[in-house]
Amino acid sequence: MAAILDIAQLAKKSWKKDNKQSPYLFDEVTAVIKQPEFISVIGSSGQGKSTLLRTLAMLETPDKGDMLFKGTSYRMKDARAWRKQICYVPQQAVMLNGSVEDNLRTASRLHGNTYDDQLASHLLAEAMLDGLDRNKKASELSGGEKQRVALIRSLLLRPSILLLDEITASLDSISGRAVEQLLQRWHVSEGVTIIWVTHDLEQVRRTSSRTWFMSEGTLLEDRGTLDFFRQPATESGNHFLRYLVSEVTT
Ligand SMILES: Nc1ncnc2c1ncn2[C@@H]1O[C@H](COP(=O)(O)OP(=O)(O)O)[C@@H](O)[C@H]1O
Ligand SMILES: [Mg+2]
Repeated sequence: MAAILDIAQLAKKSWKKDNKQSPYLFDEVTAVIKQPEFISVIGSSGQGKSTLLRTLAMLETPDKGDMLFKGTSYRMKDARAWRKQICYVPQQAVMLNGSVEDNLRTASRLHGNTYDDQLASHLLAEAMLDGLDRNKKASELSGGEKQRVALIRSLLLRPSILLLDEITASLDSISGRAVEQLLQRWHVSEGVTIIWVTHDLEQVRRTSSRTWFMSEGTLLEDRGTLDFFRQPATESGNHFLRYLVSEVTT
């Protein structure tokens, strides 16, 4: 497996001006990401998981460190070209004006690719949206429908790396599972790397061979998923797992 993304000592400054704490939301984030990989990012709220993914997608600029896509620094690349390869799907899906169909066609329109209608239909069916009227205004979709359309819109762009931010959190368990399986198949068939934030630890175990645990202002643990769940290497990791398990079982 070749390295596709190299992150070195990445940091993002915190908005909070509290002298006692570190000036960084996260700091010293270093990792080598290969192609294909399926990584889950976990950690309690406010640890900077979303900001890290947004930074990797060049929607935020790092305050320190570097990111190299296939060996070339983000500094040498145009943000648009970067985002075509590394695509971020936010937790709150944003629909563009127009119909569902217009939304699905956005990527090909923006990037001048041919629109793959058959693939769009196939992915909609896999996401349990086969009954959806594509002429419907996108703004009228439910939150869960918007979320899945936003994901499929990004898949049609065929990025090398997908960064997904709690995209199954607003879905019922059956469609959440369908999306999870769609992604697992896509990861294998297209060979893409997926990095996703999720709070569902069973989902982490089912999908990812690698887990990133964000805590203490950094990527505190970058481990094989089985190893992390068997025995976190840090006190924070242990505490996080114990806390979540007790939350689920009580
Ligand atoms: N530069 C920054 N960018 C984004 N959020 C910041 C920044 N500095 C401080 N914050 C704060 O830190 C938190 C960032 O959280 P976020 O990246 O959304 O974490 P998570 O996804 O782990 O909950 C928010 O509460 C936000 O107000
Ligand atoms: Mg978040």
